[in-house]
Amino acid sequence: MRTASRSILLPIFFFVFCFTAYCNEQRRIYIVYLGEHKGLKSPQEILKGHHSLLFSVKNSEEEASGAILYSYKHSINGFAALLTEEEATKLSQMEEVVSAFPSEGRSSPHTTRSWKFITQEEGSKGSEKNLIGSKAKCGKNVIVGMLDSGIWPESESFSDRGIRHFPKRWKGICQEGDAFNSSHCNNKIIGARYYVKSYEYYYGPLNKTYAYRSPRDNDGHGTHTASTVAGRAVRNVSALGGFAWGTATGGAPLARLAIYKVCWPIPGPNPNIENTCFDADMLAAFDDAIADGVHVISMSIGTTGEPPEYSKDSMAIGALHAAKRDIVVVCSAGNDGPGPATVTNLAPWMITVGASSVDRAFDSLVLLGNGVTIKGQTVTPYVLNSSHFYPLVYARDAVHPGIPSNISGQCLPNSLDGDKVRGKVVLCLRGSGLRVAKGLEVKRAGGAAIILGNAVASGNEIPVDAHVLPGTAVSSDDAIAILKYIDATRRPSAKVGSARTVLGVTPAPVMAAFSSRGPNRVEPSILKPDITAPGLNILAAWSESSSPTKLEDDHRSVKYDLYSGTSMSCPHVSAVAALLKSLHPDWSSAAIRSAMMTTATVENARGEALTDTSGRVAGPMDYGSGHIRPAHASDPGLVYDASYEDYLLFACSSIGAQMDPSFRCPETPPSPSDLNYPSIAVSHLNGSVTVRRTVTNVGRGPAKYRVTATEPTGVSVHILPQKLRFKRSGQRRRFSVTLKVRGRRDTPSGDYVAGSYTWSDGTHVVRSPIVVSLA
Ligand SMILES: *[C@@H]1O[C@H](CO)[C@@H](O)[C@H](O)[C@H]1NC(C)=O
Ligand SMILES: *[C@@H]1O[C@H](CO)[C@@H](O)[C@H](O)[C@H]1NC(C)=O
Ligand SMILES: *[C@@H]1O[C@H](CO)[C@@H](O)[C@H](O)[C@H]1NC(C)=O
Ligand SMILES: *[C@@H]1O[C@H](CO)[C@@H](O)[C@H](O)[C@H]1NC(C)=O
Ligand SMILES: *[C@@H]1O[C@H](CO)[C@@H](O)[C@H](O)[C@H]1NC(C)=O
Ligand SMILES: *[C@@H]1O[C@H](CO)[C@@H](O)[C@H](O)[C@H]1NC(C)=O
Repeated sequence: MRTASRSILLPIFFFVFCFTAYCNEQRRIYIVYLGEHKGLKSPQEILKGHHSLLFSVKNSEEEASGAILYSYKHSINGFAALLTEEEATKLSQMEEVVSAFPSEGRSSPHTTRSWKFITQEEGSKGSEKNLIGSKAKCGKNVIVGMLDSGIWPESESFSDRGIRHFPKRWKGICQEGDAFNSSHCNNKIIGARYYVKSYEYYYGPLNKTYAYRSPRDNDGHGTHTASTVAGRAVRNVSALGGFAWGTATGGAPLARLAIYKVCWPIPGPNPNIENTCFDADMLAAFDDAIADGVHVISMSIGTTGEPPEYSKDSMAIGALHAAKRDIVVVCSAGNDGPGPATVTNLAPWMITVGASSVDRAFDSLVLLGNGVTIKGQTVTPYVLNSSHFYPLVYARDAVHPGIPSNISGQCLPNSLDGDKVRGKVVLCLRGSGLRVAKGLEVKRAGGAAIILGNAVASGNEIPVDAHVLPGTAVSSDDAIAILKYIDATRRPSAKVGSARTVLGVTPAPVMAAFSSRGPNRVEPSILKPDITAPGLNILAAWSESSSPTKLEDDHRSVKYDLYSGTSMSCPHVSAVAALLKSLHPDWSSAAIRSAMMTTATVENARGEALTDTSGRVAGPMDYGSGHIRPAHASDPGLVYDASYEDYLLFACSSIGAQMDPSFRCPETPPSPSDLNYPSIAVSHLNGSVTVRRTVTNVGRGPAKYRVTATEPTGVSVHILPQKLRFKRSGQRRRFSVTLKVRGRRDTPSGDYVAGSYTWSDGTHVVRSPIVVSLA
């Protein structure tokens, strides 16, 4: 899902202003971020402090107290308030203020097979069996905070059968509201809250015809992600029409869920299609989640457009405070791929997750009148009568007069002429408009079925849809073949067969085209994304108040649904983080991230290099360290640890500013690439650079490691020392990595080349990617 563009939002924005008490000047919600709370203060004292700061730029006490929306009082020190730009600028210049930035709406981008696939893949390589789940007691007593669109508590995936007591550290609440009372929390969903102030200031009062003012999920996204992390094993579930049938389970089925609803529908013709999540609301949720006692925060939320710098990024600020308390924060990389520099959630103290496929497909055959067979993909529950051919028409040849030629093939709403499509199979192309809405348009105009062709940009990656009529989706090559057949044939015709679920598809995993790619636009010395996990056609629980297509005119209701996006891959990593937290309660959030990254694989299940959907070999800008392997992550051998102070030092050099006013930046802070990160990224290398790293032995006892390196093209890699000896578990060892441009240069400047280095003791393999661009 994407947020509407600014040009659409702005008129609504001004409209809302006139409903507020402050019509005279342009005010908007700003977050004023002050770092950490110092000393023990009561919430009243904190609020008083925030008031007096605000009063210094306002005319009266009343105006100051009336302007505050949130006073962040637990861990994050700051507040959200209505300010003019001038007031915000004044505040941001004060010594105690780190930053003041507008609260914007973020997008919430958008399982039977995925867990089995991940663990099978690990098993098939002759490694130890996947025992991480049982060893980690399925994440029992680990609390995962979900910042998302809420939850559908009645789903069987959230049953608390056999789970007793709340974990001792839990301090949260079950906030009541529309269709949600305390009985909707249980020993599984141990808490739930909602945050809507910033949303309502922007869009006006929540419209209760399509949204619950409570933690209840009217969308489906939050229910899907929560059940992917921690859903119980529920047998015999499938999507509409019986697809992807099997046992649906989360990765940490005994972990506890704490729900923080921060994403709300964008008003419009299809209000539940797009969600938005406002910075000020999210920061309030972060502050509560940290105080409530969560161990892991999972947020499938991203930014579109230019990513904010760390001190003006609510998610980065929230995640930093979480990291200080060793809470693991896992975020989605975004769905803006495959173009370069599209990745979001760029702070090194969060885990940024790309998306890849699983070995499952939903094949349905298209038979053309000339006898040619084409393989499509669909999960539509409707079938076409297969005993005869149907006339086949390309949408462009069946539109009303006046539809512009650049969109006439796309089946946009009200574009098709009923007389020309009635009873026919209609070929529509992707491009603009929602995929499922194209099916709705064919149905509206009386068509019999849809064949949805990929535009060239989407290549061969086919997202499956639960269309409202028979149909299937085909690759761009196949769409072109069908177009050629239509053009060359006087009476083109086609049959569309029903779909079946196919397992064991190869190659898998494959990087999804939509998964956002590096490099990191805010800090090129930190490689993002960090890792990839399944995110294509994932089955998980759904909100029963939302239809599978989410369209207003679709009145079907489902308990489980297939969805694709880095929103779906992020909770897979959150679940593994929960298992690791259960296995290694003493590990820092950096150690948990390191364990997942250094043990990820860059090969597919056939043992070949991971590719993208076009067949090209993928690299660190696509998948970071590689595809997650939970069992390997439980025993990584060595970890790259980092502390809150390390992150603050990093911020000193990276953004040239403090993230916390109580921390003094040194005169010459270390280079940002010296942050003890499990990957190495160097941009504009001129001559040579040396980066330093420290590894901690988390193996059982003494160990001897040796290093090997794969050099990026045109760059030499020297690591010193080449051997590390550990006398015991917990011991740390330093080493340096020197990257040097070789005399002969074949790589154009600015292009990234990739390599890696790996420590091994014969049992553990601790791999780190290296990416370098040359000056
Ligand atoms: C909570 O709501 C349910 C219906 O969803 C109702 O049956 C129950 O009585 C309510 N419980 C309380 C404590 O209000
Ligand atoms: C709420 O949404 C419904 C359905 O989209 C719409 O008909 C109605 O006008 C909306 N109400 C308000 C107050 O905006
Ligand atoms: C699940 O389906 C199988 C096969 O269709 C059936 O034998 C079994 O009883 C079902 N189990 C449940 C819990 O519904
Ligand atoms: C399918 O079409 C055939 C004619 O080609 C017709 O005889 C048959 O009744 C149709 N089946 C259904 C289920 O409509
Ligand atoms: C189609 O072309 C018109 C101008 O001819 C342009 O305004 C519009 O954005 C184009 N639409 C798409 C989807 O490219
Ligand atoms: C590389 O460094 C050398 C010497 O320090 C300098 O003269 C040169 O301009 C640099 N090249 C680039 C592309 O930055």
